[in-house]
Amino acid sequence: MSTNEPPRGLARNAANYGDLKFALYLRRSFAKSMGYSSAMLAKPVVGIADTSSDFNNCHRSVPELVDAVKRGVLAAGALPLGFPTVSLCEPSLFPTSMHYRNLMALDTEAMLQAQPMDSVVLIGGCDKTVPAQLMAAASNDMPAVMLVTGPMLAQRFEGERLAACTDCRRYWARYRAGEVSDEKIDAIEGKLATSAGTCGVMGTASTMACIAATLGFMPLDAASTPAVHSDRLRIAEEAGALAVRLIHHPVKPSQLITQKSVENALRVLLAIGGSTNALIHLTAVAGRVGVKVDLRDLDRLSETTPVLVDLKPTGEGYMEDFHAAGGMRMLLREMRDLLHLDCIDLYGRTLAEQLDEGSDFVDRQYIHARSNPVSPVGGLVSLFGNLAPDGAILKRSAATPSLFEKEARIVVFDGLADLANRVDDPDLDISADDIMVLKNAGPTTPAGMPEAGYLPIPKKLARQGVKDMVRISDCRMSGTAFGTIVLHISPEAAVGGPLAFAETGDRIRLSVKNRSIDLLISEAEFARRRTGWAPLVAPVRGWDKLMHDQVLQAQDGCDLGFLRPEGK
Ligand code: FES
Repeated sequence: MSTNEPPRGLARNAANYGDLKFALYLRRSFAKSMGYSSAMLAKPVVGIADTSSDFNNCHRSVPELVDAVKRGVLAAGALPLGFPTVSLCEPSLFPTSMHYRNLMALDTEAMLQAQPMDSVVLIGGCDKTVPAQLMAAASNDMPAVMLVTGPMLAQRFEGERLAACTDCRRYWARYRAGEVSDEKIDAIEGKLATSAGTCGVMGTASTMACIAATLGFMPLDAASTPAVHSDRLRIAEEAGALAVRLIHHPVKPSQLITQKSVENALRVLLAIGGSTNALIHLTAVAGRVGVKVDLRDLDRLSETTPVLVDLKPTGEGYMEDFHAAGGMRMLLREMRDLLHLDCIDLYGRTLAEQLDEGSDFVDRQYIHARSNPVSPVGGLVSLFGNLAPDGAILKRSAATPSLFEKEARIVVFDGLADLANRVDDPDLDISADDIMVLKNAGPTTPAGMPEAGYLPIPKKLARQGVKDMVRISDCRMSGTAFGTIVLHISPEAAVGGPLAFAETGDRIRLSVKNRSIDLLISEAEFARRRTGWAPLVAPVRGWDKLMHDQVLQAQDGCDLGFLRPEGK
């Protein structure tokens, strides 16, 4: 290596002993204890973020993916070195995995910065892992390949196919309504998630995989290839080879995440009827390089982007159907005129070039033609009004159109504990015509903005056959859930947003047509209620305190303020 070239491989980021040569000598000595030859230790290094964890079923296949990535790296002439990071599995974390997305992003960014590597393969999958890794890559700006674990397969059970987690919610709602027995709900528990991989529907994990591919962080086919398909291992091997290529032909995250590519990703989010959570995550990822996602822009895009993919939770199919139908390539071809085709991927290919490759086969059952869309307009709309001055979101593709224009009395729950205590109380004063409101569950609360926006229909109404009601909150909803649910009310109640002052018996007007959501009380009444308001008790130490003090609101992606380029 010429002395003018920047340090590479193990020579990067030397530990600081005040003697560079000694630091590198020591590093090589210790690396040799692992049995590497001098020739191997002189090669460029590809880091592999290994997120396997016994707490993360969605990452069950990570060890074999790591092996395949290593194969690809070695064959391409570099040294693969795996390292662990925080790993987040949606149902395994208290109070919610969202509370730790920024911790994983911070951990990953720090390890990319501290350890000697020239490029990295980030292995993610479950909902919060892919955004956390993309946020880290964006801030570090090191060439990074995204490798997802891939979706699980649906399995047959008593004549129908089941996969996590839309079917989990569907069956649980039927159980609450008394339509499914204790025995059957127990039997189904073991039939919902039966293979390795992420949730098998277009939930948050699948949506984020589609977005990562749209941004160029992985090949288009890699977004939907099932976790257990042998192609997934070939994709991993290719990811290793690509990471080596990037050392010699760098394409950095800041070249991939641009205003244009983010707009493409928003179009994809809309066309796939994707998860509302992905909007928060994409906003956070883009925010790391100073690209702003504006909710009013989302609304403009939503009016001109049809839903073309027919998958659960909004439609019928599973991710394996989307993949077999032609996957991202055929979807993007169908919406070609809506996309910025000059955006590039990690190979430096334009999106136009990527779309010209591959087979022409498409299964119209799952990827509709523009002339026959699942819906002529996009899956998400943003709402503004005196209840949400900084915006809120509604997934209209998963909602009940007859509830889009509604003014009704509200029943308010003060927080998650209040909801749990009262929602199934037979004496709860609520009717099917009311609007349910949950507050104090936003990003700064101890609850950490959980996926509790899918408020359960009170049992006594569920047993009368009520399937949907307007539900409003400052928290999130699982990407696998459905219903007429207004989410991400901002500012949240816990920072004194207008939602804090909503009381049972007030009325709210929701108008999807006008994109509005308003609490029908006067300004004078708002002012009167504001005088008696006090914030929740703040956490005093640790990660909870850092989140409370630094986390931004939903329209800023719930990132930590000090991690954005502009600070808080
Ligand atoms: Fe991991 Fe759904 S729980 S992707």
